[in-house]
Amino acid sequence: MNPGIDRLSFYCPAYALDLRRLAEARGVDPDKYLSGLGQETMAVAPPDEDIVTMAASAALPIVEADGADDFDWILVATETGVDQSKAAATFVHGLLELPSTCSALELKQACYSATAALHMACAWVAARPDRAVLIVASDIARYELCNPGEPTQGAGAVAMRITARPRVLEIDPFRGVHADDVFDFWRPNYREEALVDGQYSTRMYLAALTAAWERYGAASGLDWTAFRRQCFHLPFTRMAEKAMLHLQRTARWPSEGFRDRIADGLAYNRHTGNTYAASLYESLTCLLETAAEDLAGARVGLFSYGSGCTAEFFSGVVRPGYREVLRAEAHRRQLADRVALDYRQYEDIVRLPLPKDGGEHVFAQYRTGPFRFAGLSQHKRVYERL
Ligand code: COA
Repeated sequence: MNPGIDRLSFYCPAYALDLRRLAEARGVDPDKYLSGLGQETMAVAPPDEDIVTMAASAALPIVEADGADDFDWILVATETGVDQSKAAATFVHGLLELPSTCSALELKQACYSATAALHMACAWVAARPDRAVLIVASDIARYELCNPGEPTQGAGAVAMRITARPRVLEIDPFRGVHADDVFDFWRPNYREEALVDGQYSTRMYLAALTAAWERYGAASGLDWTAFRRQCFHLPFTRMAEKAMLHLQRTARWPSEGFRDRIADGLAYNRHTGNTYAASLYESLTCLLETAAEDLAGARVGLFSYGSGCTAEFFSGVVRPGYREVLRAEAHRRQLADRVALDYRQYEDIVRLPLPKDGGEHVFAQYRTGPFRFAGLSQHKRVYERL
Protein backbone atom coordinates (compact mmCIF):
# COMPACT_ATOMS: atom_id res chain seq x y z
CA MET A 1 0.00 0.00 0.00
CA ASN A 2 1.22 3.54 -0.74
CA PRO A 3 0.93 6.36 1.82
CA GLY A 4 -1.76 8.97 1.26
CA ILE A 5 -4.80 10.81 2.54
CA ASP A 6 -6.38 9.21 5.59
CA ARG A 7 -8.98 11.92 6.29
CA LEU A 8 -10.19 15.12 4.61
CA SER A 9 -12.03 18.05 6.15
CA PHE A 10 -13.17 21.26 4.48
CA TYR A 11 -14.13 24.65 5.96
CA CYS A 12 -15.37 27.87 4.41
CA PRO A 13 -16.52 31.18 5.95
CA ALA A 14 -20.17 31.64 6.89
CA TYR A 15 -20.81 34.53 4.45
CA ALA A 16 -21.39 34.34 0.71
CA LEU A 17 -22.13 36.71 -2.16
CA ASP A 18 -24.30 35.48 -5.01
CA LEU A 19 -22.50 36.42 -8.22
CA ARG A 20 -25.79 37.55 -9.76
CA ARG A 21 -25.62 40.43 -7.24
CA LEU A 22 -22.03 41.20 -8.18
CA ALA A 23 -22.95 41.10 -11.89
CA GLU A 24 -25.77 43.57 -11.27
CA ALA A 25 -23.42 45.95 -9.42
CA ARG A 26 -20.80 45.69 -12.16
CA GLY A 27 -23.28 46.00 -15.06
CA VAL A 28 -22.23 42.59 -16.42
CA ASP A 29 -24.41 39.84 -17.89
CA PRO A 30 -24.65 37.28 -14.99
CA ASP A 31 -24.15 34.45 -17.49
CA LYS A 32 -20.57 35.58 -17.92
CA TYR A 33 -19.91 34.58 -14.31
CA LEU A 34 -22.32 31.63 -14.10
CA SER A 35 -21.54 29.99 -17.47
CA GLY A 36 -18.41 31.74 -18.77
CA LEU A 37 -16.45 31.27 -15.53
CA GLY A 38 -18.58 28.52 -13.96
CA GLN A 39 -18.91 30.35 -10.63
CA GLU A 40 -22.13 30.93 -8.69
CA THR A 41 -21.33 32.26 -5.21
CA MET A 42 -18.13 33.45 -3.55
CA ALA A 43 -17.24 32.80 0.08
CA VAL A 44 -16.46 36.06 1.91
CA ALA A 45 -14.29 35.99 5.02
CA PRO A 46 -15.51 38.46 7.70
CA PRO A 47 -12.88 40.65 9.43
CA ASP A 48 -12.51 38.23 12.34
CA GLU A 49 -11.78 35.24 10.10
CA ASP A 50 -8.38 34.67 8.45
CA ILE A 51 -6.36 31.76 7.09
CA VAL A 52 -5.41 30.73 10.63
CA THR A 53 -9.00 30.47 11.91
CA MET A 54 -10.09 28.74 8.69
CA ALA A 55 -7.18 26.28 8.91
CA ALA A 56 -7.88 25.47 12.56
CA SER A 57 -11.61 25.09 11.86
CA ALA A 58 -10.92 22.70 8.96
CA ALA A 59 -8.49 20.61 11.02
CA LEU A 60 -10.45 20.44 14.30
CA PRO A 61 -12.81 17.60 13.23
CA ILE A 62 -9.76 15.50 12.23
CA VAL A 63 -8.09 16.10 15.59
CA GLU A 64 -11.37 15.34 17.40
CA ALA A 65 -11.83 12.10 15.44
CA ASP A 66 -8.31 10.65 15.53
CA GLY A 67 -6.44 12.58 18.21
CA ALA A 68 -3.20 14.49 17.67
CA ASP A 69 -0.62 12.34 19.43
CA ASP A 70 0.83 10.78 16.27
CA PHE A 71 1.36 14.04 14.35
CA ASP A 72 5.05 14.74 13.67
CA TRP A 73 4.30 17.83 11.54
CA ILE A 74 1.65 20.39 10.92
CA LEU A 75 2.24 21.85 7.44
CA VAL A 76 0.18 24.92 6.52
CA ALA A 77 0.08 25.69 2.79
CA THR A 78 -0.96 29.26 2.01
CA GLU A 79 -0.25 32.31 -0.10
CA THR A 80 -2.18 34.58 2.29
CA GLY A 81 0.52 34.68 4.96
CA VAL A 82 -0.29 36.65 8.12
CA ASP A 83 3.32 37.25 9.23
CA GLN A 84 6.70 37.43 7.49
CA SER A 85 8.46 35.31 10.13
CA LYS A 86 6.09 33.48 12.45
CA ALA A 87 4.54 30.59 10.50
CA ALA A 88 0.74 30.41 10.31
CA ALA A 89 1.24 26.77 11.33
CA THR A 90 2.40 27.88 14.80
CA PHE A 91 -0.87 29.75 15.44
CA VAL A 92 -2.87 26.72 14.26
CA HIS A 93 -0.68 24.46 16.41
CA GLY A 94 -1.68 26.55 19.43
CA LEU A 95 -5.38 26.70 18.62
CA LEU A 96 -5.54 22.92 18.12
CA GLU A 97 -3.40 22.28 21.23
CA LEU A 98 -1.08 19.99 19.25
CA PRO A 99 1.70 18.24 21.19
CA SER A 100 5.02 20.09 21.46
CA THR A 101 6.66 17.16 19.61
CA CYS A 102 4.78 18.16 16.43
CA SER A 103 6.88 20.56 14.26
CA ALA A 104 5.13 23.51 12.60
CA LEU A 105 5.95 24.83 9.12
CA GLU A 106 4.35 27.12 6.54
CA LEU A 107 4.82 26.47 2.80
CA LYS A 108 4.34 28.86 -0.14
CA GLN A 109 4.32 28.46 -3.92
CA ALA A 110 1.07 30.16 -4.95
CA CYS A 111 -1.67 27.49 -5.30
CA TYR A 112 0.80 24.57 -5.52
CA SER A 113 2.23 24.40 -1.99
CA ALA A 114 -0.23 21.87 -0.53
CA THR A 115 0.88 19.40 -3.20
CA ALA A 116 4.51 19.80 -2.12
CA ALA A 117 3.35 19.32 1.48
CA LEU A 118 1.50 16.15 0.47
CA HIS A 119 4.61 14.58 -1.09
CA MET A 120 6.80 15.59 1.85
CA ALA A 121 4.27 14.08 4.24
CA CYS A 122 3.95 10.84 2.25
CA ALA A 123 7.74 10.42 2.23
CA TRP A 124 7.83 11.10 5.97
CA VAL A 125 5.20 8.53 6.93
CA ALA A 126 6.59 5.95 4.46
CA ALA A 127 9.72 5.93 6.63
CA ARG A 128 7.72 6.03 9.90
CA PRO A 129 4.52 4.01 9.36
CA ASP A 130 3.23 4.57 12.91
CA ARG A 131 3.34 8.40 12.57
CA ALA A 132 1.08 10.93 10.81
CA VAL A 133 1.28 14.43 9.30
CA LEU A 134 -1.42 17.12 9.38
CA ILE A 135 -1.61 19.30 6.26
CA VAL A 136 -3.89 22.33 6.03
CA ALA A 137 -4.27 24.39 2.85
CA SER A 138 -5.95 27.71 3.66
CA ASP A 139 -6.35 30.83 1.53
CA ILE A 140 -8.36 33.97 0.88
CA ALA A 141 -8.42 35.05 -2.79
CA ARG A 142 -8.72 38.83 -3.15
CA TYR A 143 -8.44 41.19 -6.11
CA GLU A 144 -9.22 44.88 -6.35
CA LEU A 145 -12.87 45.84 -6.64
CA CYS A 146 -13.95 45.83 -10.33
CA ASN A 147 -10.85 43.83 -11.38
CA PRO A 148 -11.65 40.99 -13.87
CA GLY A 149 -10.45 38.56 -11.17
CA GLU A 150 -13.08 39.83 -8.68
CA PRO A 151 -15.80 37.27 -9.61
CA THR A 152 -13.28 34.45 -9.00
CA GLN A 153 -12.52 35.52 -5.41
CA GLY A 154 -13.12 33.04 -2.62
CA ALA A 155 -12.00 31.68 0.73
CA GLY A 156 -11.65 28.29 2.33
CA ALA A 157 -9.44 25.61 3.82
CA VAL A 158 -8.93 21.86 3.49
CA ALA A 159 -7.22 19.78 6.17
CA MET A 160 -5.75 16.34 5.45
CA ARG A 161 -4.36 13.67 7.73
CA ILE A 162 -1.56 11.79 5.93
CA THR A 163 -0.66 8.25 6.99
CA ALA A 164 1.13 5.16 5.68
CA ARG A 165 -2.16 3.20 5.66
CA PRO A 166 -4.64 5.77 4.35
CA ARG A 167 -8.39 5.23 4.46
CA VAL A 168 -9.29 7.67 1.63
CA LEU A 169 -6.70 7.92 -1.18
CA GLU A 170 -3.35 6.20 -1.78
CA ILE A 171 -0.96 8.52 -3.62
CA ASP A 172 0.82 6.90 -6.59
CA PRO A 173 4.63 7.09 -6.39
CA PHE A 174 5.09 8.82 -9.77
CA ARG A 175 4.51 12.39 -10.94
CA GLY A 176 5.15 14.79 -13.81
CA VAL A 177 6.24 18.35 -13.05
CA HIS A 178 6.75 21.60 -14.90
CA ALA A 179 8.36 24.71 -13.38
CA ASP A 180 9.28 28.06 -14.92
CA ASP A 181 9.83 31.70 -13.87
CA VAL A 182 6.74 33.59 -15.11
CA PHE A 183 4.73 36.60 -13.86
CA ASP A 184 1.15 35.47 -14.33
CA PHE A 185 -0.12 36.03 -10.77
CA TRP A 186 1.66 37.51 -7.76
CA ARG A 187 1.16 39.64 -4.64
CA PRO A 188 4.01 41.96 -3.63
CA ASN A 189 4.55 42.37 0.13
CA TYR A 190 3.07 45.87 0.11
CA ARG A 191 -0.30 44.78 -1.34
CA GLU A 192 -3.38 43.13 0.20
CA GLU A 193 -4.84 42.21 -3.19
CA ALA A 194 -3.20 39.95 -5.76
CA LEU A 195 -2.13 41.12 -9.21
CA VAL A 196 -3.08 38.82 -12.05
CA ASP A 197 -2.69 38.72 -15.81
CA GLY A 198 -5.62 36.33 -16.07
CA GLN A 199 -5.62 35.44 -19.77
CA TYR A 200 -1.85 34.88 -19.70
CA SER A 201 -2.19 32.82 -16.51
CA THR A 202 -4.73 30.55 -18.20
CA ARG A 203 -2.29 30.01 -21.10
CA MET A 204 0.56 29.25 -18.67
CA TYR A 205 -1.68 26.81 -16.77
CA LEU A 206 -2.57 24.93 -19.96
CA ALA A 207 1.01 24.83 -21.28
CA ALA A 208 2.19 23.52 -17.89
CA LEU A 209 -0.60 20.91 -17.94
CA THR A 210 0.61 19.41 -21.22
CA ALA A 211 4.25 19.38 -20.11
CA ALA A 212 3.43 17.86 -16.70
CA TRP A 213 1.11 15.27 -18.25
CA GLU A 214 3.78 14.14 -20.75
CA ARG A 215 6.31 13.71 -17.93
CA TYR A 216 3.75 11.88 -15.80
CA GLY A 217 3.09 9.48 -18.71
CA ALA A 218 6.82 8.86 -19.17
CA ALA A 219 7.33 8.26 -15.43
CA SER A 220 4.29 6.03 -14.88
CA GLY A 221 3.78 4.26 -18.20
CA LEU A 222 0.06 5.09 -17.80
CA ASP A 223 -2.19 6.80 -20.33
CA TRP A 224 -5.63 8.42 -20.00
CA THR A 225 -7.38 5.03 -19.80
CA ALA A 226 -5.92 4.61 -16.30
CA PHE A 227 -8.18 7.34 -14.84
CA ARG A 228 -11.84 7.12 -13.96
CA ARG A 229 -12.00 10.72 -12.70
CA GLN A 230 -9.95 13.89 -12.97
CA CYS A 231 -9.57 16.84 -10.56
CA PHE A 232 -7.86 20.13 -11.37
CA HIS A 233 -6.73 23.22 -9.57
CA LEU A 234 -9.73 25.49 -10.15
CA PRO A 235 -9.17 29.26 -10.25
CA PHE A 236 -12.75 29.12 -11.62
CA THR A 237 -14.59 25.86 -12.36
CA ARG A 238 -14.74 26.30 -16.15
CA MET A 239 -10.98 25.81 -16.02
CA ALA A 240 -11.60 22.04 -15.71
CA GLU A 241 -13.41 22.02 -19.05
CA LYS A 242 -10.68 24.13 -20.66
CA ALA A 243 -8.05 21.72 -19.30
CA MET A 244 -9.85 18.64 -20.64
CA LEU A 245 -10.32 20.24 -24.08
CA HIS A 246 -6.65 21.20 -24.05
CA LEU A 247 -5.58 17.61 -23.30
CA GLN A 248 -7.76 16.46 -26.20
CA ARG A 249 -5.89 18.81 -28.55
CA THR A 250 -2.35 18.31 -27.26
CA ALA A 251 -2.29 14.80 -25.79
CA ARG A 252 -5.02 12.94 -27.70
CA TRP A 253 -7.33 12.52 -24.73
CA PRO A 254 -10.78 11.34 -25.90
CA SER A 255 -13.68 13.75 -26.24
CA GLU A 256 -16.43 11.31 -25.34
CA GLY A 257 -17.49 11.28 -21.70
CA PHE A 258 -15.00 13.96 -20.70
CA ARG A 259 -17.60 16.00 -18.78
CA ASP A 260 -18.53 12.95 -16.68
CA ARG A 261 -14.91 12.66 -15.57
CA ILE A 262 -14.84 16.18 -14.07
CA ALA A 263 -18.48 16.97 -13.18
CA ASP A 264 -18.61 15.61 -9.61
CA GLY A 265 -15.56 17.61 -8.53
CA LEU A 266 -16.91 21.08 -9.28
CA ALA A 267 -19.86 21.92 -7.00
CA TYR A 268 -17.99 23.01 -3.85
CA ASN A 269 -15.56 25.26 -5.77
CA ARG A 270 -18.45 26.73 -7.76
CA HIS A 271 -19.88 27.93 -4.44
CA THR A 272 -16.71 29.08 -2.62
CA GLY A 273 -14.72 30.68 -5.43
CA ASN A 274 -10.98 30.24 -5.69
CA THR A 275 -9.40 28.86 -2.52
CA TYR A 276 -5.88 28.90 -4.02
CA ALA A 277 -3.76 26.26 -2.22
CA ALA A 278 -6.92 24.46 -1.08
CA SER A 279 -8.66 24.52 -4.47
CA LEU A 280 -7.50 21.14 -5.89
CA TYR A 281 -8.13 19.40 -2.55
CA GLU A 282 -11.55 21.04 -2.22
CA SER A 283 -12.37 19.63 -5.67
CA LEU A 284 -11.13 16.18 -4.60
CA THR A 285 -13.24 16.37 -1.42
CA CYS A 286 -16.26 17.31 -3.52
CA LEU A 287 -15.67 14.44 -5.97
CA LEU A 288 -15.41 11.85 -3.21
CA GLU A 289 -18.39 13.22 -1.26
CA THR A 290 -20.83 13.90 -4.09
CA ALA A 291 -20.19 11.19 -6.72
CA ALA A 292 -23.16 8.79 -6.70
CA GLU A 293 -20.90 6.00 -7.97
CA ASP A 294 -18.75 4.08 -5.47
CA LEU A 295 -15.24 5.14 -6.47
CA ALA A 296 -13.38 2.49 -4.44
CA GLY A 297 -10.46 1.26 -6.55
CA ALA A 298 -10.74 4.13 -9.05
CA ARG A 299 -7.60 6.04 -10.04
CA VAL A 300 -8.09 9.82 -9.91
CA GLY A 301 -5.82 12.11 -11.94
CA LEU A 302 -4.84 15.31 -10.09
CA PHE A 303 -3.39 18.49 -11.58
CA SER A 304 -1.90 21.10 -9.28
CA TYR A 305 -0.89 24.53 -10.64
CA GLY A 306 0.76 27.34 -8.70
CA SER A 307 1.35 30.55 -10.63
CA GLY A 308 4.85 31.72 -10.91
CA CYS A 309 5.01 28.72 -11.70
CA THR A 310 5.23 25.13 -10.49
CA ALA A 311 2.78 22.56 -11.80
CA GLU A 312 2.36 18.86 -11.29
CA PHE A 313 0.28 15.99 -12.65
CA PHE A 314 -0.03 13.14 -10.15
CA SER A 315 -2.62 10.58 -9.15
CA GLY A 316 -4.14 8.49 -6.42
CA VAL A 317 -6.28 5.39 -5.98
CA VAL A 318 -9.45 5.55 -3.87
CA ARG A 319 -9.48 3.14 -0.93
CA PRO A 320 -12.31 0.67 -0.22
CA GLY A 321 -14.60 2.01 2.52
CA TYR A 322 -13.47 5.62 1.94
CA ARG A 323 -16.99 6.97 2.46
CA GLU A 324 -16.98 5.95 6.13
CA VAL A 325 -14.42 8.63 7.03
CA LEU A 326 -15.78 11.49 4.88
CA ARG A 327 -17.73 14.46 6.30
CA ALA A 328 -20.15 14.87 3.41
CA GLU A 329 -23.23 15.91 5.41
CA ALA A 330 -21.31 18.42 7.57
CA HIS A 331 -19.82 20.02 4.43
CA ARG A 332 -23.18 20.13 2.67
CA ARG A 333 -24.74 21.88 5.68
CA GLN A 334 -21.83 24.31 5.98
CA LEU A 335 -22.26 25.50 2.39
CA ALA A 336 -26.07 25.58 2.58
CA ASP A 337 -26.27 27.50 5.88
CA ARG A 338 -24.17 30.51 4.90
CA VAL A 339 -25.45 34.08 5.33
CA ALA A 340 -26.26 35.63 1.94
CA LEU A 341 -24.72 39.10 1.71
CA ASP A 342 -26.13 41.90 -0.38
CA TYR A 343 -23.70 43.84 -2.55
CA ARG A 344 -23.33 46.73 -0.06
CA GLN A 345 -22.50 44.37 2.84
CA TYR A 346 -19.88 42.64 0.66
CA GLU A 347 -18.24 45.93 -0.24
CA ASP A 348 -18.28 47.09 3.41
CA ILE A 349 -16.44 43.91 4.46
CA VAL A 350 -13.75 44.05 1.77
CA ARG A 351 -13.17 47.78 2.31
CA LEU A 352 -12.46 47.32 6.04
CA PRO A 353 -8.68 47.68 6.32
CA LEU A 354 -6.66 45.61 8.78
CA PRO A 355 -5.06 48.02 11.29
CA LYS A 356 -1.33 48.50 10.69
CA ASP A 357 -0.32 50.65 13.67
CA GLY A 358 0.35 47.81 16.10
CA GLY A 359 -1.94 49.34 18.72
CA GLU A 360 -4.78 47.73 20.65
CA HIS A 361 -7.64 46.62 18.40
CA VAL A 362 -10.67 44.53 19.27
CA PHE A 363 -12.61 43.26 16.25
CA ALA A 364 -16.38 43.12 16.02
CA GLN A 365 -17.77 39.61 16.27
CA TYR A 366 -19.19 38.09 13.08
CA ARG A 367 -20.37 34.55 12.51
CA THR A 368 -17.32 32.25 12.38
CA GLY A 369 -16.44 28.64 13.00
CA PRO A 370 -15.01 27.43 16.32
CA PHE A 371 -12.16 29.98 16.21
CA ARG A 372 -11.98 33.72 15.61
CA PHE A 373 -9.35 36.38 15.05
CA ALA A 374 -10.27 38.60 17.97
CA GLY A 375 -7.88 41.53 17.49
CA LEU A 376 -4.35 42.87 17.75
CA SER A 377 -2.36 43.73 20.83
CA GLN A 378 1.22 45.03 20.90
CA HIS A 379 1.74 43.92 17.27
CA LYS A 380 0.52 40.41 18.12
CA ARG A 381 -2.47 38.64 16.58
CA VAL A 382 -4.98 37.49 19.20
CA TYR A 383 -7.09 34.41 18.48
CA GLU A 384 -9.81 32.84 20.57
CA ARG A 385 -11.74 29.61 20.66
CA LEU A 386 -15.50 30.08 20.95
N1 COA B 1 -22.54 34.65 -21.31
C1 COA B 1 -21.80 33.49 -21.27
N2 COA B 1 -20.43 33.51 -21.35
C2 COA B 1 -19.82 34.70 -21.44
C3 COA B 1 -20.54 35.91 -21.47
C4 COA B 1 -21.96 35.85 -21.43
N3 COA B 1 -22.70 36.95 -21.45
N4 COA B 1 -19.65 36.93 -21.57
C5 COA B 1 -18.41 36.37 -21.58
N5 COA B 1 -18.52 35.02 -21.50
C6 COA B 1 -17.45 34.02 -21.45
C7 COA B 1 -16.27 34.36 -22.37
O1 COA B 1 -16.50 33.94 -23.71
C8 COA B 1 -15.17 33.58 -21.69
O2 COA B 1 -15.26 32.23 -22.04
P1 COA B 1 -14.06 31.53 -22.88
O3 COA B 1 -12.87 31.58 -21.96
O4 COA B 1 -14.54 30.17 -23.15
O5 COA B 1 -13.86 32.39 -24.10
C9 COA B 1 -15.51 33.69 -20.20
O6 COA B 1 -16.89 34.05 -20.15
C10 COA B 1 -14.73 34.76 -19.46
O7 COA B 1 -14.80 35.93 -20.21
P2 COA B 1 -13.50 36.84 -20.43
O8 COA B 1 -13.85 37.96 -21.31
O9 COA B 1 -12.35 35.98 -20.81
O10 COA B 1 -13.34 37.36 -18.95
P3 COA B 1 -12.32 38.39 -18.30
O11 COA B 1 -11.20 38.68 -19.23
O12 COA B 1 -13.12 39.52 -17.77
O13 COA B 1 -11.76 37.58 -17.05
C11 COA B 1 -10.39 35.82 -16.16
C12 COA B 1 -11.64 36.16 -16.99
C13 COA B 1 -10.42 34.32 -15.84
C14 COA B 1 -9.13 36.12 -16.97
C15 COA B 1 -10.40 36.67 -14.85
O14 COA B 1 -11.55 36.37 -14.12
C16 COA B 1 -9.20 36.43 -13.96
O15 COA B 1 -8.14 36.99 -14.17
N6 COA B 1 -9.36 35.59 -12.93
C17 COA B 1 -8.27 35.24 -12.02
C18 COA B 1 -7.59 33.99 -12.53
C19 COA B 1 -6.52 33.58 -11.57
O16 COA B 1 -6.64 33.75 -10.40
N7 COA B 1 -5.41 33.02 -12.09
C20 COA B 1 -4.28 32.68 -11.26
C21 COA B 1 -4.42 31.43 -10.50
S1 COA B 1 -4.41 29.99 -11.47
